[in-house]
Amino acid sequence: MPGSAAARLARLADGYLVTQLLHVCVALGVPDALAAGPRSADELAGEVGAVPGPLHRVLRGLAAEEVLDELPDGRFALTETGAWLRSGTPDSLRGAVTARAELYYEAAVGLLAAVRDGGTPFDAVHGRSFFEHLAAAPERLAAFRASMADRSAREAGAVVAAYDVTPFASVVDVGGGSGTLLRAIRERIPAADVVLFDQPGVVADSDLPAVGGDFFTAVPGGADAYVLSRVLHDWDDDDARRVLRTCRAAMRPDSVLLVVEAVLPGRAVDDPAAVRMDLHMLVLLHGRERTAAEYAALLDAAGLRLTRDVPTGAGVHVLEARPA
Ligand SMILES: C[S@@+](CC[C@H](N)C(=O)[O-])C[C@H]1O[C@@H](n2cnc3c(N)ncnc32)[C@H](O)[C@@H]1O
Repeated sequence: MPGSAAARLARLADGYLVTQLLHVCVALGVPDALAAGPRSADELAGEVGAVPGPLHRVLRGLAAEEVLDELPDGRFALTETGAWLRSGTPDSLRGAVTARAELYYEAAVGLLAAVRDGGTPFDAVHGRSFFEHLAAAPERLAAFRASMADRSAREAGAVVAAYDVTPFASVVDVGGGSGTLLRAIRERIPAADVVLFDQPGVVADSDLPAVGGDFFTAVPGGADAYVLSRVLHDWDDDDARRVLRTCRAAMRPDSVLLVVEAVLPGRAVDDPAAVRMDLHMLVLLHGRERTAAEYAALLDAAGLRLTRDVPTGAGVHVLEARPA
């Protein structure tokens, strides 16, 4: 049975456990405790404040998934995979684990009904939209922002490494959020005029030059480059076209638009992470990930043409577009 197709399927069916095992591990601070060296379950239980018996069973579950290493003397250590759960390391995945377990997990229960009858699983399960749910509790909003910040940091370095921004003297990051990508761009072109554009409440305390507004209405005009990073995937095609048209209206004939998004592969197995991101959008929001051809069609409808598709190696591509 181990290694057989049936064993693989049985493991997939138990995926619900893995999300929660990772969550327990992160929430208790196990990865940081193990960063100081291997520990027994009893030692860890004392250190992190847990009941030894159940903790031991959880640690064994994580060892079965090769997140932890179960040493011959019964102590546990972080594997190379588990090391990504430590705090304070660049590119940590702990925020992503917490967001999945605390924010996305329950909504997935609504997927069957949504696939049968339509609707958004999150809204059906929680009785309100994802962003309303976040706004109702500061700790939820903080968990989501932490997850986004980890992801943005991972992506921003890869974007400026893959796409040369040095020709630009002015850049507007539309829906730029906390400004992680714009900061990485500014490091490459310190003399450039950069503007972080987002909803007024989001940019209010930014250390970057910022403008608050609504990207369905207008964005600052006349810059060399406009960036839309992880914005279009939040929206259905009609709304995505509206955002693109607003950007097009602000662009000069020689301005460039950089759409930073995961790009769905032709076949799912060629980029499973992008396919999973699309499923997060299906479960949580009205958005979707798209293929390069679908982005080209959206751009075309907004008076723009796709001129380059630059993969970054960090799960996102830079889709360069210019006025048609
Ligand atoms: C998924 S986040 C992406 C943030 C950032 N660009 C990144 O790559 O991490 C989408 C952003 O769009 C912003 N946003 C949503 N609706 C907006 C609107 N109508 N006008 C301006 N910004 C908006 C949100 O506040 C949020 O910062």
